[in-house]
Amino acid sequence: MEKWTVNSWRKYNILQQPTYPDINELNNVEKKIKGLPPLVFAGEVRNLKEELKNVTLGNSFLLQGGDCAESFANFSANNIRDMFKVMLQMAIVLTFAGGCPIVKVGRVAGQFAKPRSSDFEEVGGVKLPSYRGDIINGFEFTNEARVPDPKRMIEAYYQSASTLNLLRAFSRGGLANLHEVHRWNLGFIKRAEIGDKFELLAAQLTQTLNFMEACGVTTQNTPALSETKLYTSHEALLLPYEEALTRIDSLSGDWYNCSAHMLWIGERTRGVNDAHVHFLSGVKNPIGCKIGPDAKPEDIVALANKLNPSNEPGRLNIIIRMGAKKIEDRLPNLLNSVKKEGLNILWSIDPMHGNTQKVSSGFKTREFSDVMSEVRSFFDIHKACGTIAGGVHLEMTGQDVTECTGGAFKVTEDGLASRYETQCDPRLNADQALELAFLIADLVKEARK
Ligand code: PEP
Ligand code: CO
Repeated sequence: MEKWTVNSWRKYNILQQPTYPDINELNNVEKKIKGLPPLVFAGEVRNLKEELKNVTLGNSFLLQGGDCAESFANFSANNIRDMFKVMLQMAIVLTFAGGCPIVKVGRVAGQFAKPRSSDFEEVGGVKLPSYRGDIINGFEFTNEARVPDPKRMIEAYYQSASTLNLLRAFSRGGLANLHEVHRWNLGFIKRAEIGDKFELLAAQLTQTLNFMEACGVTTQNTPALSETKLYTSHEALLLPYEEALTRIDSLSGDWYNCSAHMLWIGERTRGVNDAHVHFLSGVKNPIGCKIGPDAKPEDIVALANKLNPSNEPGRLNIIIRMGAKKIEDRLPNLLNSVKKEGLNILWSIDPMHGNTQKVSSGFKTREFSDVMSEVRSFFDIHKACGTIAGGVHLEMTGQDVTECTGGAFKVTEDGLASRYETQCDPRLNADQALELAFLIADLVKEARK
């Protein structure tokens, strides 16, 4: 087997990459990014791995979520703040109602590159190269916008650095203080059902905090009450960018991908002998891998052997995304076969990507009841197999968008147009995300009995 180096992936078969018109410019950009500071520190990555080990062993639960694709146009403090607040709200629901510690990982500060099912997009008889995410080309449906531009990697880097800076400030600067829990509610969370349910939980939490304070447990002597940790993740798709941010950690001498704490491999690029799997096999970060309905048990075993040869718990997260209609048929066999191998795998569910549909108006959407149903099946199947349902992986936003249909406030097909803002896949809005968190809390509580 070929020895791994930071650029040995270049000799492997690779899918879903742009063809840059100017190779010199690409080389210059890669050189520039190689000289820029890492976005995360290897010590933080090791802490996340330790936390994910606990998830793998069934002692805590992974909540991973964020935009399908971050964009340059929607980059703002308010968007980052609202996403952070929804994550906190969901984590509180899961911790307090589900009775389980939560590891929070955002699809954020680097989630820019998108795999596409088709290389071309056709609108009104005009055919152009597909949009591949703001780190590669432009969303605008014009010839010029769709030409891959390496300089976009530099903008993505600086946007990620700035996003991460604000998230770190929110995490430690007071916004995450549990005494502020009432204020995390987003203005538009309707004063009915979900909003009331959250308010009730927040009131109970405040009461508990007051009691603890009376017993001497305060925010002064217990930082965990006023600070939080939100780790970052994205799909490691655009390998020139990922390589440029992969560095040797001076403490351990090991290679870490310092573009995010956790990286995942998409359903379309998980070939065990291909470049993406090879590249990530050489870094020490926790690695996710998406698994669709057609995967065989042997595929998962081969991925585990390649990505996690020492069978370290916390290293490998298999993210199931089969769709509500297929999961009951496909997942049980997969789990039962893989279980026999004794592999340490953190199993999580992405109930988004197997449930995408196109409605007659042309919008891509997902029906909330399908999302709920796939999550419920995931827990039921794990229970039947005696394995652990470790986490969820969601596409969601803190904004009041109308991209997925259904939910307590019933976004209809006709209503999709009112605030359809995603540049890629449809996301749960804040109401729907919180509603889902309450369902998951019940399932987590049930599973832990
Ligand atoms: C995604 O997570 O946005 C994505 C493209 O997922 P998948 O690889 O599972 O299709
Ligand atoms: Co997506």
